[in-house]
Amino acid sequence: MVLSEIVTPLVTWYHQYKRSLPWRDIPTPYRVWVSEIMLQQTRVDPAIPYFERFVSTLPDIASLANADEETVLKLWEGLGYYSRVRNLQKAAKIVEREYGGILPSDPALLLKLPGIGEYTAGAIASIAYQVPAPAVDGNVLRVISRLTADDSDIAEMATKRAMQEKLVAILPQDRPGDFNQALMDLGATVCLPNGAPHCDRCPLASLCEAQKQGLTETLPKKSKKQAPVAEEKTVFLLVCGGKIALQKRPESGLLAGLWEFPNLPRKISLQKATNALKDWGFIATTLHALPKAKHVFTHKIWNMNGIYAEVQELLPDFTWVSAKDLSDTYTLPTAFRVYQSEALKLLSKE
Ligand code: ADE
Repeated sequence: MVLSEIVTPLVTWYHQYKRSLPWRDIPTPYRVWVSEIMLQQTRVDPAIPYFERFVSTLPDIASLANADEETVLKLWEGLGYYSRVRNLQKAAKIVEREYGGILPSDPALLLKLPGIGEYTAGAIASIAYQVPAPAVDGNVLRVISRLTADDSDIAEMATKRAMQEKLVAILPQDRPGDFNQALMDLGATVCLPNGAPHCDRCPLASLCEAQKQGLTETLPKKSKKQAPVAEEKTVFLLVCGGKIALQKRPESGLLAGLWEFPNLPRKISLQKATNALKDWGFIATTLHALPKAKHVFTHKIWNMNGIYAEVQELLPDFTWVSAKDLSDTYTLPTAFRVYQSEALKLLSKE
């Protein structure tokens, strides 16, 4: 097939069927940027309320750059991957300082900002500034693999590069943002993954090589990722005088610098918990087990056991917070969600 033939039917289809999205309806560079960072790990529908709240609280790059970190993290609570919003704020500060508060339109400059990779640079440049740059994400890799019946492994960087080059050659100069978003929407709503495309509704079906060759079920080819490694954990809800203990995670690594409940990297029985708590300097007066919880990260799984303990002293190695602080001020990673709601229930009973 000749790939350039997709441009007109695809853009025509987009104008008829495009989803109305808040960042799409008012595509300022800041709004497009925030939306693209949210959409790196979150689907469009659940991202919308987070987006609305984020941009109404922090309506521009300057307000994001000047906001305190806990406020920014709180706005991201529930989306996970907090390093994304930290990088967003870091980048906003750089834009304020180095670009007079105006997000650059050149993908090469965007790429230098924290949290912006090739896909995001292309998406921002094309959608917000009509710069003809490709934006190749997983959806686009799937659509192009099928259209061209290309069985290259889409997990490989070389495959992504080759697709970027193919797209650069055909991107319409006058509406690259519409073209890129049309490919994204087609991938998200019609050319679905896992062998379930709606070819009957596809504006490109008559051009599609996978459709012609009966390969829509088998393409794209993607090599398997390494399975995540499971780790056991014991999470402690330590309560004293109506307050609960938090600690800060190390400044690097998984969930860097975020607040968490004190925990140990192994499974500890209720019987052994008294001694484990003594190592931290606590005398526990009441102990009981809490529900188990599981959290799946990209490369890790936490299998968590919880233990509730009333302790006698507000030891200064920990930060002691009230129920109100826990829900309004401190941001805990989603991995601790089960224990955060347990903690709020327990504190409200005190
Ligand atoms: N996924 C990521 N960015 C998107 C956008 N601008 N439109 C639709 N889906 C997307």
